[in-house]
Amino acid sequence: MPDFRRYLVNIDSISTHQLFTDCLVIGAGIAGLRAAIEAAKHCNVIIVCKGSLEDSNTWKAQGGIASVLNKTDTFESHITDTLNTGCGLCDQGIVDLVVRQGPELMEQLLSWGTEFDQIDGHIATTLEGGHTHPRVAHAHGDETGRIIAEALIKKARQNPNIKMVENFYTIDLLTNDDNECIGIIGHDKHSPPGTDQIIWAANTILATGGAGQLYRETTNPEVATGDGIAMAYRAGAVLQDLEFLQFHPTTLYVAGASRALITETLRGEGAVLLDNKGRRFMKEYHESAELAPRDIVSRAILAQMLKNKSTHVYLDVRHFDKEYFAKRFPHIFELCESFDIDVSRDLIPVRPSAHYMIGGVKTDASAKTSIENLYACGEVASTGLHGANRLGSNSLLEGLVFGKTAGQSVYQHKKASVAHIKHPLIKYQIPHSDRSLLDTADIRNSLRALMWRNMGITRKARPLAETQEIIRFWQRYVMDKVFDGPAGWECQNMLTVCLLMAQSAQMRQESRGVHFRSDFPDTDDEHFKKRIEISKEL
Ligand code: FUM
Repeated sequence: MPDFRRYLVNIDSISTHQLFTDCLVIGAGIAGLRAAIEAAKHCNVIIVCKGSLEDSNTWKAQGGIASVLNKTDTFESHITDTLNTGCGLCDQGIVDLVVRQGPELMEQLLSWGTEFDQIDGHIATTLEGGHTHPRVAHAHGDETGRIIAEALIKKARQNPNIKMVENFYTIDLLTNDDNECIGIIGHDKHSPPGTDQIIWAANTILATGGAGQLYRETTNPEVATGDGIAMAYRAGAVLQDLEFLQFHPTTLYVAGASRALITETLRGEGAVLLDNKGRRFMKEYHESAELAPRDIVSRAILAQMLKNKSTHVYLDVRHFDKEYFAKRFPHIFELCESFDIDVSRDLIPVRPSAHYMIGGVKTDASAKTSIENLYACGEVASTGLHGANRLGSNSLLEGLVFGKTAGQSVYQHKKASVAHIKHPLIKYQIPHSDRSLLDTADIRNSLRALMWRNMGITRKARPLAETQEIIRFWQRYVMDKVFDGPAGWECQNMLTVCLLMAQSAQMRQESRGVHFRSDFPDTDDEHFKKRIEISKEL
């Protein structure tokens, strides 16, 4: 089968440009940066990222980062909210570990220069769906991710042990016969096509982020194509929970605009949802109305759209004081203005979009994957924190905690130094394909539309089977090619991850959290209170 190819490109390690490092971090969102800062206490570190440092889901995060920060809140309450939202599939030990590290790591972020918004000298907090206490911290209003990322980048830049390389596309993880990860092969976007580089690494931390670009409509940046999941799969890592992709209920729906996130904290502070007839409808679906967990709000919006044959619903923020709104939500204020939406007078058209990949590369409490010397953290990892549905703003916290953990695991590893790498000569040759040239952009668009249609908020057996059939057909003539640039490799990765997601969704014959099967609308604890793991037969 062509999708069982081990590497996407031909490799001849003797004639390939080579670098060496104790620790290689792939990705520069909150998890990758925090991991690098930790590992660099005792190791030299190279961070590579596919685009610029600004191209990450972290950078785009608006609402905030959840943590127990005020006296009326408790760890027990944050743990309970996370478990309740996760619908029986959270790993309780991991939830406990993440929640309890929150306040200390938030203090550290503050001391590294993150300007969290404050009230009376304390970090200000707000509400999001599923939280029973206001515990979502924010920075510069709705620019939380950017402000955190900037502080971490500054911290990393000050460290002589860290070298950051932007615009470097990681094509594949390199492994040896002992199931050890020994580095990567990648491509510097400024190099001519076909000139790849090997980075040999004693330890590799996968922090490549999410996969929202697998869907036609997404809040994610263009870089979020699921590369980390695909390369880990090719290397033989165990993946889990790939059927759990979270949709964000409220993204801007304006023809021609990308589906920009409209933060949930708006609803936390009183914004309400109206249908196209101007009726508030959320109370008919859940007692917490607009602050129900995200899966419930997304499905309710979809149901209301179907009922009224409309393409979207509206967020009503007209009752906010306009000056307060502009200060508290500056990014959204500007975004709306740019489409001539006056938030004090007009409704904001919204509908759900693909937002967060809950599943990913299976890791343990030390951020270790099933491959030796390979760690994963952030959105690419599946730690078990989120279960079947993620509590809003828990992911930046998870990235922080498991970034630090991955960095610690690296320097505590007895083979932390590059001096321990035994790198074999790698010669890997892919048979030439005579099939015709491809328009990968067309395949990518068709795939994203297919996922939106058949692997969206509601799923059922026939469309899931059809999805796999179509993807396998495309794979026959895409996966046998050797591409010499990111567009082709991304297309191959996207096909791989979409197929695995559809297979996982097919296997989970029940509805739980973000995975809703209209043919199996109930939760079936007897058969499915467990994770669905997938790995490649090597
Ligand atoms: O609505 C938001 O600001 C998103 C938060 C999150 O996905 O954690």
